[in-house]
Amino acid sequence: DGVVVGVDIGGTKVLAGVVDGGGRVTRTARRTTPGRRVVASQVEDALVGAVAEAAGERALLGVGVAAAGFVDPAGERVMFAPHLPWQGEPLRDLLEDRLGCPVVLDNDANCAARAEAHHGAARGARSALMITMGTGIGGALLLDGRVLRGQNGMAGEFGHMQVVPGGQECECGRSGCWEQYSSGNALVRNARALMAEQPSVLTDMCAGGPDRVTGPMVTAAAEQGDLVARQAFASIGEWLGVGTANLVAALDPQLVVVGGGVSAAGDRLLDPARAALRRTLVGAAHRVVPDLVAARLGPEAGMIGAALLVARPQ
Ligand code: BGC
Ligand code: NA
Ligand code: ZN
Repeated sequence: DGVVVGVDIGGTKVLAGVVDGGGRVTRTARRTTPGRRVVASQVEDALVGAVAEAAGERALLGVGVAAAGFVDPAGERVMFAPHLPWQGEPLRDLLEDRLGCPVVLDNDANCAARAEAHHGAARGARSALMITMGTGIGGALLLDGRVLRGQNGMAGEFGHMQVVPGGQECECGRSGCWEQYSSGNALVRNARALMAEQPSVLTDMCAGGPDRVTGPMVTAAAEQGDLVARQAFASIGEWLGVGTANLVAALDPQLVVVGGGVSAAGDRLLDPARAALRRTLVGAAHRVVPDLVAARLGPEAGMIGAALLVARPQ
């Protein structure tokens, strides 16, 4: 009686969980991502540690990995990852050796999209966009429940579309990328800039060191009614809507699903996004504007989708 474990490795945290055939999560474990300026094996240590803790005493039947990076079409390597120290990393084989079971690998947002298509908000949709907001922005396009892969397996890297020429530097090495204006990192950057000019409960929460402000702190402050935190959310929400309008103009999907850690903020993020989508989308008055909804599986979608891949490799 072994178990299948899904593990989502992002720029901030590693989340592993035992997932049953129906997509239900029974036991989870977490680690903090060691960073992007560490040796690759340190990130792998965190990943293996989280998987082992989630599985406990039970044997591993297979492990699905949702990685925040560009995965090759064979599902063997992470070719490039803006928030992780992986470049051409043969992650699948490395993990198979360390875990002693079959491992499957895909991009984190692709995994989240698959989970939402099977068990979540995108069930039955002919076409849907998945946008995951965490450290950065991940993306996927679902067509009849399948993820569009592209020539390199790299379709859906929406987070690195340039939206501000000459704008903020991005971890990908370029500048002005969408994820620099709408993501967990952007939320924190906005909050830090605003709290330098206005009073905010964040000043107490971070004990005076603005560089210690985190995304969850901004979420908590916004819940308490803090104006700085609310403005920080309004800004990333609006940028979410603007970028989404461009994607909708290009692809005309039926539905837009927003997941990832930041989506835990719900309508505080999605309401300004919906408004900006309607305002920015070409021909909005003459078309059906797609619903913009939260991922039903929330921040666990990537982990669940990775586990689904074990039984149904695509
Ligand atoms: C990466 C994507 C990833 C996303 C979310 C982006 O910066 O390029 O591959 O899906 O972050 O983690
Ligand atoms: Na993707
Ligand atoms: Zn970028």
